[in-house]
Amino acid sequence: MNDNGKLIDGREVSKTILEEVSEDVAVFCRSHRPPHLVVVIVGDNPASRSYVRGKVKAAKKCGIDSTLLELPPDVSSDELLSRIDEFNGDSSIDGILVQLPLPGHIDQQDVIERISPSKDVDGFHPYNMGRLVADKPVLVSCTPLGIMELLSRYSGETAGKRAVVIGRSSIVGTPMALLLARKHEGGDATVTICHSRSEDIASVTAEADIIIAAVGRAGTVTGDMVKEGAVVIDVGINRVDDPNSKKGYRLVGDVDFESVLPKASLITPVPGGVGPMTIAMLMRNTLAAAGWAGRSEDEVP
Ligand SMILES: NC(=O)c1ccc[n+]([C@@H]2O[C@H](COP(=O)([O-])OP(=O)(O)OC[C@H]3O[C@@H](n4cnc5c(N)ncnc54)[C@H](OP(=O)(O)O)[C@@H]3O)[C@@H](O)[C@H]2O)c1
Repeated sequence: MNDNGKLIDGREVSKTILEEVSEDVAVFCRSHRPPHLVVVIVGDNPASRSYVRGKVKAAKKCGIDSTLLELPPDVSSDELLSRIDEFNGDSSIDGILVQLPLPGHIDQQDVIERISPSKDVDGFHPYNMGRLVADKPVLVSCTPLGIMELLSRYSGETAGKRAVVIGRSSIVGTPMALLLARKHEGGDATVTICHSRSEDIASVTAEADIIIAAVGRAGTVTGDMVKEGAVVIDVGINRVDDPNSKKGYRLVGDVDFESVLPKASLITPVPGGVGPMTIAMLMRNTLAAAGWAGRSEDEVP
């Protein structure tokens, strides 16, 4: 296989999933109003703005209604929480997403916990995290969910494989590790989590069949850390200076692509790997949340 055959094309898979979601939305709309997603952005972080634009655009493509609420960077925590309360109580809204990170004066966890679990399409609420821990997932964090989809479409069996997740955030690393370890098709892997206090990460990754890098630091995984034939998934999004690019920077992942490519059997590029999958899974979660709208919390599967 030449190296091009090793690339996991997240854009292509995401396109397929968005088409599938569009078809499901069309069927859903025969008996319901269209699903409705509210996206809240606070401040003018350019990366966040670009993610939010992508989410709104994808919703439109799928036939999902969306409302974008833009709040100034100095909005008070109380104001943001009261807007979330309004959306929670509005039966015409199925999904609420608050784009992270938030400005430092707002407690991110308070905001996550204020969103009704049944409208928590990002899957970050402790209720939804707890459902995943209990192996009864409902709304699961979109990035890990998208990675599971890539693994199932590209690499097949994960049962019995050794997987290493580098990063233990509650929105990426931890749910990723839980999904891979689930007693379920697509799971059943033997999972190790590494983080900033882990010693000798290279000796752990060297034994791994699957490596997921979710750190936020370019060059975290290099070729010498990777076993021949490993599947390497790069979640990181890092800006590095690039005077040759119009913007003056380019995006790279956590994986040193050039040195890892010859060793890997499959690898996600950055951009074009995990990123588009996150958006596709958000659309799936929004449709799922719409299916449950109007039901009480304990009726949610
Ligand atoms: N593609 C997408 O759609 C998508 C979605 C979400 C996030 N991301 C990207 O994924 C990356 C991770 O996101 P996040 O929200 O999980 O970040 P985060 O909350 O900052 O977590 C980073 C994790 O990496 C660990 N870490 C930091 N330095 C390390 C090192 N030198 N060696 C090993 N582990 C180290 C941290 O360990 P401690 O816990 O010990 O601090 C932490 O667990 C970021 O680049 C983010 O932009 C991409």
